[in-house]
Amino acid sequence: MPVHPPVFEPPFNVLRSSHVALGVADLAASRAFYEDCLGLLVTEATKDRLYLRGTEERNHHSIELRQTGDPLCYALGYKVASDKDLDLAKKWFDARGLSAEFRETPYAKRTLFARDVRGMPLELYAKMTTVESALQKYGLHKGARISRIDHLNCFTDDVQSSYEFYNSLGFRLTEYTETEDKPPQFWAVWMHRKGNVHDMAFTNGLGPRLHHIGVWTPTAVDILNLCDVMSSTGYLKNMERGPGRHGISNAFFLYIRDPDGHRVELFASDYLTVDHDHEPIRWTLRDPQRQTLWGQPAPKSWFEEGTVFEGCEVRAPALEAQPIVAR
Ligand SMILES: [Fe+2]
Repeated sequence: MPVHPPVFEPPFNVLRSSHVALGVADLAASRAFYEDCLGLLVTEATKDRLYLRGTEERNHHSIELRQTGDPLCYALGYKVASDKDLDLAKKWFDARGLSAEFRETPYAKRTLFARDVRGMPLELYAKMTTVESALQKYGLHKGARISRIDHLNCFTDDVQSSYEFYNSLGFRLTEYTETEDKPPQFWAVWMHRKGNVHDMAFTNGLGPRLHHIGVWTPTAVDILNLCDVMSSTGYLKNMERGPGRHGISNAFFLYIRDPDGHRVELFASDYLTVDHDHEPIRWTLRDPQRQTLWGQPAPKSWFEEGTVFEGCEVRAPALEAQPIVAR
C-alpha cells in the first residue's frame, strides 16, 4: 500500500471542494427538507432547480438540486485559484486522455466539466456568482445552522487509483485505513486541499458512487438540535446513523437521508492539517473505533447504499468486502 509524498506544487491549484449537483424527484419536498428542516438558505429557485448554501457561504450555492426524476449525482464541484488554473487543468486532463470540456453554467461562466480517473463527473471553476454572507444574520439561522459544505465522500472501486489521482493534484493524505493483507492495501483514504481533515474521502466499495456530502455545523449542539427537529417534524425515518463521534477525523456526526435517498453528514469539530510535515494517521480495518469512537453501530444501509454518478459505470470493488461492525 504505497503512501506517496504530498505534492506541494500540483499541475493546477484546486482550493477546495465546493458544491454538488443532485437529481431529485420533487423539488418542493426537497426544499422542505433542506430549507425548513436542515436550515440551509435558498439563494435561487427556478422551475426545475434549487440552489442552496450555508450561512457563511459567499458562493451562489454549495448544493444544486435538479428536478430530473433520477436520483443521480451530476457533478462534484471544485473551486480553483484562477482562470489560468482552468486552462492548466484542461491541458492536464487532455494529456491523460481524460474527458474535459468547457461549458457555461448559469452561475460560473467558465466551467471545466471533466471526469476523474474512475469516471466521476467534476466541475472545476474559478469564479462563481457571489452573494452576501448570512453568518451574522442570526435571525435566519435554523435547523442545524449549517455554515458551509465541508467535504465529499465516495465509494470507489479502486482506492489506490483514486488516491494516486488526487495525490497528484495536490490533495494531501490525512488519515487512512488499511487491510490486514501482506502487504496491506488501502481500504479508505481522507485527503484535503483546504487545511482540515478532508475535501475528499474514498472507501472501497461498489463504485464510483457518492456516499455522502459533509456539511459543517458551528457546534455539536447544532447537530443535537437537528435531531430534535427531525424527530418532531416527520423526518425520524430519515435519520440513518448517529449522533456519535468518529475516530477518523474526530468529527461529531449525524448521517441523514434526503427525500431521494441522497446522504448528508452533519459534521463538526475536526482539526487543522495545513503543516507541510503533518503525518497521516494510520488505522487498521480491524479497529471499530476508527469509524465510531463512540455511538451506535452503523446500519447495513450506511455501508451499502450510495448515489450513482450520471454517465459513470458502477464496478465491483478491487478488494473483497469485509464485515465492519462498530462496538
Ligand atoms: Fe464525511
